[in-house]
Amino acid sequence: MTSPTSTTPTSTVTDWPVRATALTDELTAAGKLTSPAWRAAVEAVPRHVFVPEFYVYRDGRMITVAASDPTTSGEWQEQVYSNTALVTKIGQDEPGGPPVFLSSSSTPGLMTRMVEALDVRDGNRVLEIGTGTGYNAALLCHRLGEARVYSVDVEPDLLETARIRLAELGYHPTLVAGDGAEGLAEHAPFDRIIATCSVPAIPWPWVDQARIGGVILTDIKVGLAAGNLVRLTRTAPDRAEGMFDAGQAAFMELRHTAGSPGRIPYARTPEDSPATESTTELDPRIPWSNPVVWFLAALRLGGHYRLGYTGGDPHHGPDAVSITTPEGSRAEITLATDHDDGHRVSETGPVRLWQHVEHAHQQWESAGRPGWPRLGLAVTPDTQTIYIDEPGNPLAGVS
Ligand SMILES: C[S@@+](CC[C@H](N)C(=O)[O-])C[C@H]1O[C@@H](n2cnc3c(N)ncnc32)[C@H](O)[C@@H]1O
Repeated sequence: MTSPTSTTPTSTVTDWPVRATALTDELTAAGKLTSPAWRAAVEAVPRHVFVPEFYVYRDGRMITVAASDPTTSGEWQEQVYSNTALVTKIGQDEPGGPPVFLSSSSTPGLMTRMVEALDVRDGNRVLEIGTGTGYNAALLCHRLGEARVYSVDVEPDLLETARIRLAELGYHPTLVAGDGAEGLAEHAPFDRIIATCSVPAIPWPWVDQARIGGVILTDIKVGLAAGNLVRLTRTAPDRAEGMFDAGQAAFMELRHTAGSPGRIPYARTPEDSPATESTTELDPRIPWSNPVVWFLAALRLGGHYRLGYTGGDPHHGPDAVSITTPEGSRAEITLATDHDDGHRVSETGPVRLWQHVEHAHQQWESAGRPGWPRLGLAVTPDTQTIYIDEPGNPLAGVS
């Protein structure tokens, strides 16, 4: 599957200024857009130029919703000016495998929240990791001027398409195809660095290429659904630190080569692997429904786990939740309790995964049940440490 490369002139949607203003009003009312300068950018940049088509999962398959297709053009027009993320490139990890999302135009409200959190000042030079459609780069160009905007994407075809669409609107930022984890050393230092893909830890080049006092804003995801936006300030040549965002965000993960996230293979737990049976007081729904607990658990689980539900029938839902890790460890925890004994836990393989989750939950309780705004991240060339309230109170390491 390939990405769409057609272009859509502004004239395709004649009332786009009205739609862009309505989107601006919607984001403002939702508290996701507050500053006049960014309001002006959202009103001035036609999103439809950057997303002439997108993919949706419908009736068990991916279909294309496109401006050029009369059967979907109405839906297309509605969606591009709504607060919705639109998938624009899909691929496969393996031939015949399920589709994986490789690029999207992020939810406009998330983009505006992020660019506002970036706290840009006139004259700032900004590096964006994850050009995607180019829409966010266009917002940055409107706000700061094209000469101060730099953007990198690992997918060369996306980058070239974004270049064409940006140029149609008169924007010529510096666009580079490559692995954004390396930053853009030849154009450093930057006042602001914004990543619109998630990373398991902060790539040191981002800190190294930020000015002292400069800001780095990214989504840290140490594992599936485990992490959030963090805003770091470079405080010294060898240090950046800052707090996590109060809201929740989710971006597709940064991948080092084009075309596929290249997921790691999973070992099967041998059928005859002995199981360790125990019980737990902790309802397995609690760590999953609390993003901070789950983040702390993921730091212990190692990031490459999978989650699932097992058993049950269509009428009664699942019986148990499961966690699996690549080396073949697995934990299954029943959703129902056995009288006073709690939830039954069955663990197989080399690592007792549920124990890690319980420890993370205890750690969160002992820390006073913090929400995201009390969590921070300190980064040096050799360490990345999660802290609570201030860097002097370390909670866990990020590997
Ligand atoms: C959510 S999309 C970005 C949306 C974009 N900012 C926009 O306005 O359309 C995430 C992008 O990150 C890109 N990406 C993934 N890994 C990357 C890497 N190592 N370096 C640069 N870009 C990367 C993907 O190709 C994808 O286009």
